[in-house]
Amino acid sequence: MQLKDGMSFDPAPAERLLSRLRERAHPYQVSFAGLDLRIDENVFCPRHTKTSAIMLECLDGIELPREARALDIFTGSGVFALYLAARGCRALGVDILPEAVRCAQHNAAANNLGDRASFVLGNGLSAVLDEGRFDIVTACPPLLPGRPEGPLEGALFDERLGSTHRFVSELPRVLASKGRAYLFLSDVFARVGNDIDALARDAGLVARTALAHDVGYEVYSVVELRHAG
Ligand SMILES: C[S@@+](CC[C@H](N)C(=O)[O-])C[C@H]1O[C@@H](n2cnc3c(N)ncnc32)[C@H](O)[C@@H]1O
Repeated sequence: MQLKDGMSFDPAPAERLLSRLRERAHPYQVSFAGLDLRIDENVFCPRHTKTSAIMLECLDGIELPREARALDIFTGSGVFALYLAARGCRALGVDILPEAVRCAQHNAAANNLGDRASFVLGNGLSAVLDEGRFDIVTACPPLLPGRPEGPLEGALFDERLGSTHRFVSELPRVLASKGRAYLFLSDVFARVGNDIDALARDAGLVARTALAHDVGYEVYSVVELRHAG
């Protein structure tokens, strides 16, 4: 693992998480967010980390219009697309990893949500820019700057955190006029020189911290984004 900005964060928690994820025999089953999820090799598991639990806590507090159109970028096992589908949305999930897309499709069928949730392979929002507008968008991108050397590491590390930058700048093209997006961030994003408020402003969006948790080595937050004005 070649880390950029190695002095800006402690890599040990991410390394421990990668070890825990690697030592499991795949596939294995977990329960999370009221869903039974199969976790395939190289697919990020929401049970092993505080991040997915914090995102879930935030989403549990949000009211959703029935039949809302939901988009879950960086979907992994499909967990948040399926959670939103189970709450009555029509959901579309996107991941860059073919194994994740196959795993999420399996989990949709296994949870009887195949008619409400679908999944596509894609890099950030690029695959869905022509799919119309979404009322709710969720995003749990890789949180730490560094060059991933394998598919599982690509869930945690991203050079220069470019996928978060691209997500924010492209979001106005897919977010409905009264829509809300929920972006998961670590304070490492700011520690390495990024400013989510400025990034949002430049894209014509307004950012507000919906939830924050200090987990000791990092502060995790869910940032709500909406159109300005
Ligand atoms: C931290 S995991 C989050 C998974 C899931 N949302 C959860 O909480 O369990 C990040 C996911 O983003 C995917 N990913 C990384 N870079 C991506 C990109 N540029 N476009 C789409 N997906 C990406 C990874 O394959 C991984 O599944």
